[in-house]
Amino acid sequence: MKPWIVGITGASGSVLAQGTVDELLRRDVPTVVVCSNGGRLVWQEEMGVSFNSALAQWQEHPQFTFYAINDLRAPIASGTYPTSGMVVVPCSMNSVASMAHGLAGNLLLRTADVCMKERRPLVLVPRETPLHSIHLENMLTMARMGAVVLPPEPAFYLKPQGIDDIVRFVVSRVLVALGVEDELPLDLQYREKPE
Ligand SMILES: Cc1cc2nc3c(=O)[nH]c(=O)nc-3n(C[C@H](O)[C@H](O)[C@H](O)COP(=O)(O)O)c2cc1C
Repeated sequence: MKPWIVGITGASGSVLAQGTVDELLRRDVPTVVVCSNGGRLVWQEEMGVSFNSALAQWQEHPQFTFYAINDLRAPIASGTYPTSGMVVVPCSMNSVASMAHGLAGNLLLRTADVCMKERRPLVLVPRETPLHSIHLENMLTMARMGAVVLPPEPAFYLKPQGIDDIVRFVVSRVLVALGVEDELPLDLQYREKPE
């Protein structure tokens, strides 16, 4: 199986990145992680532990690979290296803007650029609120380029009981978008109540 790349940037939602990587590895999916400096900063802020501590746990899994953000010689920086595609979760407006304009100044952005030029799947989980027109235009550009734009919005109709429920829902949506899962678990699907 070709690896999926998980890019982690400095938008709020580090827990979504953790959930995505955990679930990919739980399914023994080869997973490559690259995290921006902003991603590390927000991770520390939101998770109360360093990104390196999560990294240490993931690195125990044989299907896990990590490359440093400035390692532009990493294999994933090249279109000749086969991958299944990439998810950027969470995805900052800074990184969306860079991707939408073909900027590839770090390994995460370069890898996303490679996915676009090689016409491989690219899923973005953008997080910002409120959004101004440049944010929206950049996301529209990405959607027109074929990226799946998947904001981490809760499904209130499923009556989430807390953050864990919301994270599980968003991560499940990401896995479906990657084609790693066929469909959402039954308890995360909307079903009409019987009359
Ligand atoms: C605690 C914290 C939360 C942030 N949340 C967001 C956010 O939700 N969305 C966003 O676009 N930027 C957010 N930022 C700002 C980005 O981290 C900043 O623009 C950074 O330059 C992004 O760089 P990157 O795209 O290389 O990760 C946040 C920053 C901090 C410190």
